[in-house]
Amino acid sequence: MVGFEAQGAQSRDNPFATGNDEAFARWRDRKLAACARSAAGLVVEVRDPRSLTPAEKAEIVRRCRRDNMAIYASPVVAEDKEVPRRLGAQLGLATLDTNFLADEDGITSIAVSGAKAGAGFIPYTTHRIRWHTDGYYNPPALRIRAMLLHCVRDAASGGDTALLDHELAYLLLREDDPRHVHALMQDDALSIPARVDDEGVARPEAVGPVFSIEPGTGDLHMRYTARTRSVAWKDDAATAAAAARLLQILDGDSGLVLRTRLLPGMGLVCNNVLHERSAFEDAPGRARLLYRARYVERIAGTRNAWRESETAGM
Ligand SMILES: [Fe+2]
Repeated sequence: MVGFEAQGAQSRDNPFATGNDEAFARWRDRKLAACARSAAGLVVEVRDPRSLTPAEKAEIVRRCRRDNMAIYASPVVAEDKEVPRRLGAQLGLATLDTNFLADEDGITSIAVSGAKAGAGFIPYTTHRIRWHTDGYYNPPALRIRAMLLHCVRDAASGGDTALLDHELAYLLLREDDPRHVHALMQDDALSIPARVDDEGVARPEAVGPVFSIEPGTGDLHMRYTARTRSVAWKDDAATAAAAARLLQILDGDSGLVLRTRLLPGMGLVCNNVLHERSAFEDAPGRARLLYRARYVERIAGTRNAWRESETAGM
């Protein structure tokens, strides 16, 4: 039986711990050999996301273990929040993060809203949303580990999604210079001042690392935003260099950023990977509508995917 220590951040085979260079090198090779190189590699056709077949679910989880995300494509285009709710439940996602802009049930309708846009909340405008992980402004105790987006209607033009597995962001940064990931694992690397945030949530200051290792499981978590206003990076040269390099990776040509457009009936399930939305335009009478759900849990069956024994058969 594997003990708590051996499972977690302290384990010598954890590739995300800064001292474990051999474990990192082995994991890096496996990860780069296996990871999806196009968004098409993420796609699983499903008949109805509300009721997956065992085979459909297995294909989604397999991709989430490999890439921390999967895209499902279904013929279900109904304006029905049961789609994300039931899909999440089938993937072990039970604890929704709620904010006051979420509809009462904790699943947020992302669409252009005059009132929310007027208050400056970017998700409810047609503007680009820069690279981020969800809930980066949450207190450390309310960490968002999984996120789900379901497309009811796409935009007349634009509204594309760019995705990068946060483990690959870590990998590329550490390959470039181990000091980068060390800087971004500092407990005070990234501070979000107290304010009413993008989503309209009044909240206290949130100080924490960008990359952290989950106690107990050893999985990698990331909190990040590329926005520059209302964000305070730790004021030292190492953090500044790491943040600048990360932005170069996100906007660069690593070949690992996956670009796609969610069409009606399609959706993203992920362990809160890095994502970006391009600007879009709605046509009259046909407004883009996505449902978004954020969860405290990771997708079931994706724990410890970094372990060699777990990835050998991928
Ligand atoms: Fe997001």
